[in-house]
Amino acid sequence: MNKNALADTKREVVCHQDDLQPGQMLEYTFGRHPVVVCRAEDGRFFAFLNRCIHQGAPLSKGKLCGATAPTSNIGEYRFEKEGDILRCPWHGREFDIKNSGCMLAQPKYKLKSFKVTVEDEHVVIYR
Ligand code: FES
Repeated sequence: MNKNALADTKREVVCHQDDLQPGQMLEYTFGRHPVVVCRAEDGRFFAFLNRCIHQGAPLSKGKLCGATAPTSNIGEYRFEKEGDILRCPWHGREFDIKNSGCMLAQPKYKLKSFKVTVEDEHVVIYR
């Protein structure tokens, strides 16, 4: 890593890992960026800019849920990805937190994400 890249890297401890249970989210301000940190049902952490890419809603006011997917039978759906979908509170667009924050309906659009690690039982985010 070159010296300038290291100087540009920013790291902050968000919370203790037990402060956020599976299925929960929290708001965090990372520098001047509003961030939503999500904990998936499998215990992994993910972080995104806390602004919906549609019209800017605070995603932390939405919910972590699942999504419906079509089956081979017309009119029949199955429920999947429970706890992996971040649903926007304003117009319901859905983003897959385990797939880089891609929008389910239009995967070419995705949320800005931040690297997250767990270090000494603390949730740490990087830019
Ligand atoms: S602001 Fe998020 S779906 Fe419209």
